[in-house]
Amino acid sequence: MVMLATSTVCLTGQPASTTLKARPAEALLQLKRPLVIGHRGFSSIAPENTIASFQKAVIAGADLTELDYHLTKDGRLIVIHDSTVDRTTDARLRWNGNNFKVADYDFEKLAELEAGTWFKPPQPGLHLPELGEALDVIQKGSVTLIERKAGDAASCIKLIRDKSLLNHVVVQAFDWNYLREYHQQEPTQILAALGPPGSKNGHRLAKEEKQLNAAWCDEIRDLGARIVVWNNQVDQSAVRAAHRRDLKVFVYTIDDPEAANDLLGMGVDGIISNKPTMLWKVLASRGSD
Ligand code: G3P
Ligand code: CA
Repeated sequence: MVMLATSTVCLTGQPASTTLKARPAEALLQLKRPLVIGHRGFSSIAPENTIASFQKAVIAGADLTELDYHLTKDGRLIVIHDSTVDRTTDARLRWNGNNFKVADYDFEKLAELEAGTWFKPPQPGLHLPELGEALDVIQKGSVTLIERKAGDAASCIKLIRDKSLLNHVVVQAFDWNYLREYHQQEPTQILAALGPPGSKNGHRLAKEEKQLNAAWCDEIRDLGARIVVWNNQVDQSAVRAAHRRDLKVFVYTIDDPEAANDLLGMGVDGIISNKPTMLWKVLASRGSD
């Protein structure tokens, strides 16, 4: 994680003479090089969204470490990608069935599950972390890119406030209403809008409508986000349109070095990958352009 000199960033509108310590998320956005972002930790070598995966992302020097969270029945924030525990735990075997929804179980029950025995090679002894536990690990050497899959903005804001992590993390979501709510309640938190949306105004979007463009960027800027996080439907003119609106552009989920190199050539500001060390290699091979 790279920290900026204390005098270079003004976060809260104070006069330029005021000395402020840049918060890590803001400092990352000021860097002059693209950011390396571990997807669900370092999930090509460890079971996704587990503490082992996050520790590996930190060791790999990921600038940001992405994770996903859902809400349990008893209202706790649990780190998992899917809305059911079927794919990434041993629940089907242990509980003898399927379609076990995260929202139907209390945290303590879900924490009993093995979260790494499905992986190849199997990694026993891992559990589904609570968001707070994951933050404690990641924030030691990286910055968490928290993706909300389910749950209200207030419960995430409360956790971030309790842990004094305002702008020590970045918060992202596909649900732009969640981001609007978050921005209203915590206007200075750096937010990232995930896209493309699958539909708009009840209309299912065609592939070409999902291309990042100036109109999407306007909408994202207006909802209060500072970062656009898109899939590979981006091109150089879209990146420029985002930059003209002071938006950063991250792209997901890129594991192919040639694709990463092409995106860097378009000027993207960050790449999200299951293989963060691959990104370092691509960045190194490009030199300092
Ligand atoms: O960070 C972007 C990416 O994680 C969004 O897709 O499905 O992997 O959560 P998904
Ligand atoms: Ca995600």
